[in-house]
Amino acid sequence: MDFSDKVVYQIYPKSFSDSNGDGLGDIRGIINHLDYLKTLGVDYIWSTPFFVSPMNDNGYDIADYRAIDPRFGTMADVEELIAEADKRGIGLMFDMVFNHTSTEHEWFQRALKGEQKYIDYYIFKDGTPDKPPTNWESKFGGNAWEYVPHLGKWYLHLYDVTQADLNWENPEVRAELKDILRFWKSKGLKGFRFDVINVISKPAEFVDDDQGDGRRFYTDGRHVHEFLKELVADSGIDGMITVGEMSSTSLDNCIRYTNPNEHELSMAFSFHHLKVDYKDGQKWELMPPDIAALKKLFATWQEGMAAAGGWNAVFWCNHDQPRAVSRFGDGQSTAAKMLATAIHFMRGTPYIYQGEELGMTNAGYTSIEQYRDVESLNYYNIMLKNGKTVEQALETLAARSRDNSRTPMQWSADKYAGFSTVEPWIIPPDNYTSINAQNEVDAPDSVFNYYRQLIKLRKALKIIADGDIKFIEPNNNDVLAYERTLGDEKLIVLCNFREHNVKVDAYDGFEKLLGNYDGLERELRPFEAVVLKK
Ligand code: GLC
Repeated sequence: MDFSDKVVYQIYPKSFSDSNGDGLGDIRGIINHLDYLKTLGVDYIWSTPFFVSPMNDNGYDIADYRAIDPRFGTMADVEELIAEADKRGIGLMFDMVFNHTSTEHEWFQRALKGEQKYIDYYIFKDGTPDKPPTNWESKFGGNAWEYVPHLGKWYLHLYDVTQADLNWENPEVRAELKDILRFWKSKGLKGFRFDVINVISKPAEFVDDDQGDGRRFYTDGRHVHEFLKELVADSGIDGMITVGEMSSTSLDNCIRYTNPNEHELSMAFSFHHLKVDYKDGQKWELMPPDIAALKKLFATWQEGMAAAGGWNAVFWCNHDQPRAVSRFGDGQSTAAKMLATAIHFMRGTPYIYQGEELGMTNAGYTSIEQYRDVESLNYYNIMLKNGKTVEQALETLAARSRDNSRTPMQWSADKYAGFSTVEPWIIPPDNYTSINAQNEVDAPDSVFNYYRQLIKLRKALKIIADGDIKFIEPNNNDVLAYERTLGDEKLIVLCNFREHNVKVDAYDGFEKLLGNYDGLERELRPFEAVVLKK
């Protein structure tokens, strides 16, 4: 596969590095740390959006796809970023939010003025204020339709009310989006990440969902594959690195999205493995992670994609997920290394989310004033309305809020974690005094250097990039275990997800390639990861 030996690093610019002392991260902050990323060894940077935006959803509500929001810098900064990254052999991928625009986008503003051309860019339905067209729910809470009294119409927003869904059935909309891709390609980008790209194709009829929140009507929708093929072909981005964020998707669809013969995307993010701690499938209901379920999901997806020529993006963390080391581990470096091992030896292209390579943890916030995220704030109110106490709601947010991953990058033990010289827009967890880049870059046993080693190994051993995969130890509910094979070579990867010793099968004739403990014992130690080689 084209991108099998590559590793992608995700940056959330607002929280990465503040170069101008306003408490917000910016593009120059990224430029200033390119050498750090070169030392880590990554091939690509995917940056989340820094386009002009009212920032109701931190830039996922775009008002102008071709202009840089002044809070992040200028177009000249972006050009410099692309050029400086290129000098270091790192390619840039930008985030294309094409399911919706901000309601401040010119298209939506002109729709509000009653211009039919732009009304047709969105999903407007005639109606009266008392009854939304359907009972579908917004993914951020509440009904997914908003009424515009002076038009006598509702518009669809699967996300925030200020994120209006585009009408992909309209060829003019598709033409606009292709143009945006051509624009950014001509700036020297190497690839793209497509936000919630599998929800773009809506049904012909809009009807109530009597079984759920409406997602079954638009997830992997009727024209999605055709729209993607057209987008990729007409904008000339086939062969570039592209990754689609797939919400509640299916294996069969992900095979189609990513099999090279289909000419859609190079890889896909799916999220089923990050729901194994959702009680009854509900994000806002807590339960400890179900490791047996996690193992089954990885086995199904990894083996299923391999069997049909699909390609995974493999990851634990991003700007929407709590930190894996807090979620599946105990927040300590041994667990961070174990989780890294579990992902980086799988079949797929690994993604590292800023700070994951340091073992950064959840935020540890204890009051609602510390949170910033629109989804967290909405659900806090919904939880209280549904009868949870303030304590329960805060406990839930502490585990589930997207802000857990949006705390400032921990560069040093200096005030504000070396992220900024002034109080940042969101505060860092207390542990930045010990978990930080300055401590880790030169420490051989650090999480950072473990990640460096994983990246080097992927480039040195073809079996990691291109080997077959099979999941083993199916009845062991503590250990994620799989084997990779290429010709006569074999790797065994064993990861203990428990805080105590656990037994594994005997693997005779193997040598240890890598691990997060010294030596090799008959039982796996707490959060131990071992990779064996034959
Ligand atoms: C994706 C983004 C998330 C955003 C949402 C709406 O899930 O990763 O941050 O809120 O799409 O654009």
